[in-house]
Amino acid sequence: MRMVKNKHNKKQPATSSLLRCSPVSLVLLSTVVGCVFMIHLTMSYTRNSSVDLEVSSPRLLTHHPIVHELERVEEENIHMPPPRKRSQRAIKRKPKTPTTLIEEFLDENSQIRHLFFPDTKTAFGPTKNPNDTLHNFLPGKIWLDTEGNPIQAHGGGILFDERSKLYYWYGEYKDGPTYQTHKKGPARVDIIGVGCYSSNDLWTWKNEGVVLAAEETDETHDLHKSNVLERPKVIYNSQTKKYVMWMHVDDANYTKASVGVATSDEPTGPFEYLYSKSPHGFDSRDMTVFKDDDDTAYLVYSSEDNSVLHIGPLTGDYLDVKPVMKRIMVGQHREAPAIFKHQKTYYMITSGCTGWAPNEALAHAAESVMGPWETLGNPCVGGNKVFRSTTFFAQSTFVLPLPGVPGAFVFMADRWNPAELRDSRYLWLPLIVGGPADRPLEFSFGFPMWSRVSVYWHRQWRLPSAGGEKKIA
Ligand code: DGJ
Repeated sequence: MRMVKNKHNKKQPATSSLLRCSPVSLVLLSTVVGCVFMIHLTMSYTRNSSVDLEVSSPRLLTHHPIVHELERVEEENIHMPPPRKRSQRAIKRKPKTPTTLIEEFLDENSQIRHLFFPDTKTAFGPTKNPNDTLHNFLPGKIWLDTEGNPIQAHGGGILFDERSKLYYWYGEYKDGPTYQTHKKGPARVDIIGVGCYSSNDLWTWKNEGVVLAAEETDETHDLHKSNVLERPKVIYNSQTKKYVMWMHVDDANYTKASVGVATSDEPTGPFEYLYSKSPHGFDSRDMTVFKDDDDTAYLVYSSEDNSVLHIGPLTGDYLDVKPVMKRIMVGQHREAPAIFKHQKTYYMITSGCTGWAPNEALAHAAESVMGPWETLGNPCVGGNKVFRSTTFFAQSTFVLPLPGVPGAFVFMADRWNPAELRDSRYLWLPLIVGGPADRPLEFSFGFPMWSRVSVYWHRQWRLPSAGGEKKIA
């Protein structure tokens, strides 16, 4: 190729100067861009249509009347209460009255607290609504198990057990007093253990008990009650036939920052605690595990002081991480990761890092689980502006695919109540993958056309398969 000199007297290919000025160059350039675009469109079409064959009918999703119902945009109109008359002593103790809805949410004496934490009169569940064959979810209301007790499975996740054909919901059993170890320390409940509930319809939950219990006496044990056990997730290993639980294990000040592993032969435990570790030699706080269709499982965790998420595959027995790890969402300070997959694309919902206070969720997408991951934006739809910017006053924990309804998922989140952590609420809401993403794309030339991820706010909703026609499991 002939070389020419540019104005800095550096040699460069002649084509670049040709491209800069001649009209031929414009034609050439637009042909190249057009070709890239067409190739991309074809690939994207091929990708979607090859998947279309795998799921029975993707049209089912958009034309299913109940899915339409889930996509209904429901507004919320919460008004700030009038300012309260406060005594001089109260003003001295806490000089400012809440001025924003988030401050009201965090104020345990707020006059509108019942809107965020409705009382037991509005609780729902099989003992309270035995005639509710539609199995309506009431996000934020107290959810009762089959014995009429509030479900204790915070920061949890769900395993569908192919052997028993039952769903198992594992989470933090927090039914103890909330306190602070020191004035500025985070609110905490001593470890009690991991609660487990079983169900065949995702609405009627039977308490299977604490399947991994705190250590009461040995203060050196990871699970001594004075420590922290959060976000337990269970996956099944079909090779070893073990149920494997991964969890965030920490000390009361969150400086140990480790993951713990436990196993059981049965989904209902008892789980045997194996060990804790710093995965890949790094600190690890909020985490989740994700099992892919090919049975490869991955650990995702907030690391490097919560500034980055790390992701890496687990060993074949799921008991450890392999020495392979990618840093994703670098410098974005995300936590509470929840991964799911739809039509060969991986999606993740994360939260920001604001302790127990709610913040804005983000959806992310990737063609490979190891990345690169691209941020799509806030998935929340409905409610109002504050609802959407606080994930409906909650934080992601897990996303569960709805069998039989491609593209439809249950978004599971925790509405933390730092004044009384045991009274934290569950927000289960429909999550739909479909429609164009509403953010400019970051990778301009590999530009995959992600679908939009939407989590719809509803005061009341039900699963498409509920209503007596057929059970989900
Ligand atoms: C946010 C995390 O997502 C929770 O699991 C918990 O660790 C709180 N921080 C503690 O402040």
